[in-house]
Amino acid sequence: MSKTKKILALAAAGVFALSLASCASDSGSTGGGEAAAGGDCNVGVSMPTRSLERWINDGEQLKSLLEEAGCTVDLQYADNKTDQQISQIQNQVAGGSNILVVAAVDGQVLAPVLAEAKKQDATVIAYDRLINGTPDVDYYATFDNYKVGQLQGEFIETQLDLANATGPISIEPFAGSPDDNNAKFFFSGAWDVLLPYVESGVLVVPSGQSPASNDDWASIGIQGWASDKAQSEMDNRLSSFYTGGDKVDVVLSPNDSLAIGIEASLKSAGYAPGADYPLITGQDADKANVKAILDGEQSMTVWKDTRTLGKQVFDMIQEIVAGDEVTVNDTKTYDNGEKVVPSFLLDPEVVVKDDVQTKLIDSGFIKAADVGL
Ligand code: GAL
Repeated sequence: MSKTKKILALAAAGVFALSLASCASDSGSTGGGEAAAGGDCNVGVSMPTRSLERWINDGEQLKSLLEEAGCTVDLQYADNKTDQQISQIQNQVAGGSNILVVAAVDGQVLAPVLAEAKKQDATVIAYDRLINGTPDVDYYATFDNYKVGQLQGEFIETQLDLANATGPISIEPFAGSPDDNNAKFFFSGAWDVLLPYVESGVLVVPSGQSPASNDDWASIGIQGWASDKAQSEMDNRLSSFYTGGDKVDVVLSPNDSLAIGIEASLKSAGYAPGADYPLITGQDADKANVKAILDGEQSMTVWKDTRTLGKQVFDMIQEIVAGDEVTVNDTKTYDNGEKVVPSFLLDPEVVVKDDVQTKLIDSGFIKAADVGL
């Protein structure tokens, strides 16, 4: 964690500790994490932003499930700002939340505020994105993030029959936000499939934005998963490296918000669905991107049914409140630098044009009208 981030987080925690000292005496709470056992269901839910469709779904779904079960819920969105998320978590704990569900804006800066929350016996669940550098996260619930990338890499490999191709086939890879722990897993899953083809020359990366290894993923990361940043990055690559009629054949986009920016860039560069249009991956099944898939402007998206993640976290909270053992299915993969966090991983799946009706609409994830059907 950078020096400034540490100072910011510590300063915030210092102020917070003072404010809590005053309320601790009021709550009369007992030892770490037990406060929720056999008792209160007072949940602070902290989501990273409203600007990306999925987080609104995640927050609202979990809130309604919990409230239906009689829990008190304080749902907050942090506008992708770390200090805002820290102060929201502080307020949630000061307001009596004894269970925290946190989808981190930046998984590297929450250790101090969680340490303070722990002093109030809060139980902490990392939601979708792991929280790093702290022993004070109790559980993690997410989709299999490495598999998300693997599905994107294998989709490209199969669609272009890379195993039998001679190439060169031009690819432009992108990665997610450098402060998002998931992004390295997405990239690693895809690049473990694709890098051998880059090394063999079947795939070429005209822009040179080709990490030599997974550890170098952040070099092509797009901060905040911002569509406009992905669009301008693609504009640069197309105008600098695709002149004289050269066409890009594939774009590895780790999620839908980046894909929509990349597609806008391709459109303004004169690309149109059809023969010369590149293969483009995605993730999240955002409505605009499902529409793009139906219109031939995107090839696939990796669907993560956020309703199942909400339900899994809801079940975890019920187990915590009942004082039961919390159900997890992975106790190896997610080492946050302080501990291997007991996790529950859900399965992502590929959605292409022919799956939209059955997987997304018939299941009620989206409505036909949302995508012009
Ligand atoms: C990731 C999340 C993805 C995508 C991205 C941007 O952490 O797993 O589903 O939404 O953030 O928000």
